[in-house]
Amino acid sequence: MKIVVAGASGLVGTALVAALQRDGHVVHRLVRRAAKTADEITWDPARGEIDRRRIDGVDAVVNLAGENLGAGRWTEARRGRILRSRIDATRTLVAAMLGVATRPTVFLSASAVGFYGDRGDDVLTESSGPGRGFLPEVCQAWEGAAQRAEEAGVRTVRLRFGVVLAAEGGALAKMLPLFRLGLGGPLGSGRQWMSWISLDDAIGAIVHALRDERVRGPVNVVAPAPVTNADFTRELARAVRRPAFLPAPAWALRLVLGKGMADEALLGSTRAEPGVLEGTGYAFRHPTLAAALQG
Ligand SMILES: NC(=O)c1ccc[n+]([C@@H]2O[C@H](COP(=O)([O-])OP(=O)(O)OC[C@H]3O[C@@H](n4cnc5c(N)ncnc54)[C@H](OP(=O)(O)O)[C@@H]3O)[C@@H](O)[C@H]2O)c1
Repeated sequence: MKIVVAGASGLVGTALVAALQRDGHVVHRLVRRAAKTADEITWDPARGEIDRRRIDGVDAVVNLAGENLGAGRWTEARRGRILRSRIDATRTLVAAMLGVATRPTVFLSASAVGFYGDRGDDVLTESSGPGRGFLPEVCQAWEGAAQRAEEAGVRTVRLRFGVVLAAEGGALAKMLPLFRLGLGGPLGSGRQWMSWISLDDAIGAIVHALRDERVRGPVNVVAPAPVTNADFTRELARAVRRPAFLPAPAWALRLVLGKGMADEALLGSTRAEPGVLEGTGYAFRHPTLAAALQG
């Protein structure tokens, strides 16, 4: 397949491009600077600019672009960038896809289980409604922009990622140094659910969604075994063979990270299940947290 990837330099994008190239696909990466090689395509999502000729006739577009959520406190300015970067990128891609003579057959667009918000012990499937808060608002607007492609008849998959676990980046890479020093511990009450997926399975699920025409609409890209934060803490401590007794109280997290990020990203409870992935036969490489942390 000929596949265009936006957000290709990120944690998921880097691993995805490598996996697709290994499988023999032709991958073109969208870059927000001058292209340096023939497989790069310059775009400016903030201005809605992209060379449509490079989208004409490709088989698939994968949209992973967006300002990183964990890069700093969610000030008003950052909230604006988090939202706008996703809407602008998605709109730019959808307008390009719908404006070319030969449209792609499939559009995969990132979203997050943040769509569901803080939902206690509720088991969340793809048909569960959105929650309340900043992340649910971002995800709804982001998915809404992607759905324009769906409405126009392009098979569109909204990838609702859980926390992607990888030693090389993202949330786990931030936690590992503390846990290796024996300074890890539960966050807040530790009772909140965390929906996670190994990076390998995040890539496996994307490849599955590219191939399998039954996969469309919202898809929870999460492992079948969500855990509470207390269980996650115990399992990660076991993996690095260190104790993890130092709890991080909710007030301290709010003080350091700001209330919005602490309450929504770390203390909120989201227990999502991979109904569509399991229903369409995706076989997880790391179905349990222990397997994911062992690599
Ligand atoms: N990792 C997770 O745990 C997780 C969980 C839930 C949802 N997601 C979502 O899944 C997608 C991929 O995740 P990831 O971890 O690979 O993200 P990431 O490492 O933060 O990478 C996102 C990429 O988006 C592009 N980007 C950054 N700022 C941008 C901006 N202002 N405007 C347009 N593009 C921008 C960059 O690529 P270029 O420089 O190449 O343009 C960046 O490498 C993201 O949209 C993320 O929100 C991730």
